[in-house]
Amino acid sequence: MILLKHNNAPVYLQFPNRPYLRPDMSQKLTAAITAVGGFVPDHVLSNFDLEQMVDTNDEWIRSRTGIEERRILKGEGKGTSDLGTPAVQQILTKKGIDPSEIECIICATVTPDMVFPATANIIADKVGAVNAFSFDIGAACSGFLYALTQGAAFIESGRYKKVIVVGADKMSSIIDYTDRATCIIFGDGGGAVLLEPNYDGYGVLDSILRSDGQGRHFLHMKAGGSMKPASIETVMAKEHFVYQEGQAVFKFAVKGMADVSAELLERNNLTGDDIAWLVPHQANLRIIDATANRMGLPKEKVMINIQKYGNTTAGTLPLCLKDWESQLKKGDNIVLAAFGGGFTWGATLVKWAYDGNS
Ligand code: UT7
Repeated sequence: MILLKHNNAPVYLQFPNRPYLRPDMSQKLTAAITAVGGFVPDHVLSNFDLEQMVDTNDEWIRSRTGIEERRILKGEGKGTSDLGTPAVQQILTKKGIDPSEIECIICATVTPDMVFPATANIIADKVGAVNAFSFDIGAACSGFLYALTQGAAFIESGRYKKVIVVGADKMSSIIDYTDRATCIIFGDGGGAVLLEPNYDGYGVLDSILRSDGQGRHFLHMKAGGSMKPASIETVMAKEHFVYQEGQAVFKFAVKGMADVSAELLERNNLTGDDIAWLVPHQANLRIIDATANRMGLPKEKVMINIQKYGNTTAGTLPLCLKDWESQLKKGDNIVLAAFGGGFTWGATLVKWAYDGNS
């Protein structure tokens, strides 16, 4: 780097072949999303299939949730890493990156392949990311936002240049397909993004993350943790499935997701007009609509794929980015918002860094 003096102020010249050199100390280092990957399994479980399994019907599911079908990961020995791995591999192929270049993989999930090791360790092994440190984040449906914020902080520290953030869940592994209150909602899927340094103002610009452990009473899995380890009794009592008090969660979700999204706009001096896309967690179409209304956004600016995949927990946000990637433009302001178990919730502002497919 060459240092000149201009009006007594230092000027840093950037070498064209050294893209990570900071050209001017006043320019902020941000974490840009530079590629997206996503994966859903082939097997489709439709509302009509569920009509054969529990006392429900297509009309009820559509009108109360917006869901028409969801994907299920089939096959002995397949876990959440089998959803995250193809998403990461897509990114490596698209960007022509050798897996050994990846420095960190963070996986958000509530359905890890095993209690330990972390699913991120398994994904790193499966893709050949031999130099990456990797770990999981457990923040339920807000997991991807938490992991994205963490990954961005690693990049912003200046210490790392290639971080992959995965959000993936094999929800079918913890769903009771005799419980109509929960089995209609969830599906399996996952996605991933690559984060790289940027000095031009693109990438993750702001995040508001929240949690309230009081919410654990309304949405949790009763057994299988250290408080109530698995036993014959817990299995017989069906305590290894999702327990949800839907109406209570619904009320908190509508308020939580909308409040935090509005707060994010306000503190960045933005209005709905400045936002190109809302990327909402896909839990219930009515929660999505409430958040969009609060932000003053028309439906055309809201990514909605709940009808195809249902609620894939940590997978919903990156799966939306994957489905809409071809329509995104460099400079688009995007708000990602989520609410889920914990309770956890949050919203993140991203300035999109590239046009169309990466
Ligand atoms: O992503 C993590 C965060 N989770 C969420 O954000 C989920 C938030 N909650 C919800 O999305 C909604 O509460 C549900 C979709 C889970 C349920 O919708 P709801 O409008 O809150 O229904 P409800 O639980 O109040 O039930 C209304 C009625 C009940 O019958 P009665 O008591 O009025 O006769 C239920 O028994 O609908 C009945 N019902 C069903 N009927 C047909 C509940 N589930 C079903 C079903 N099919 N699958």
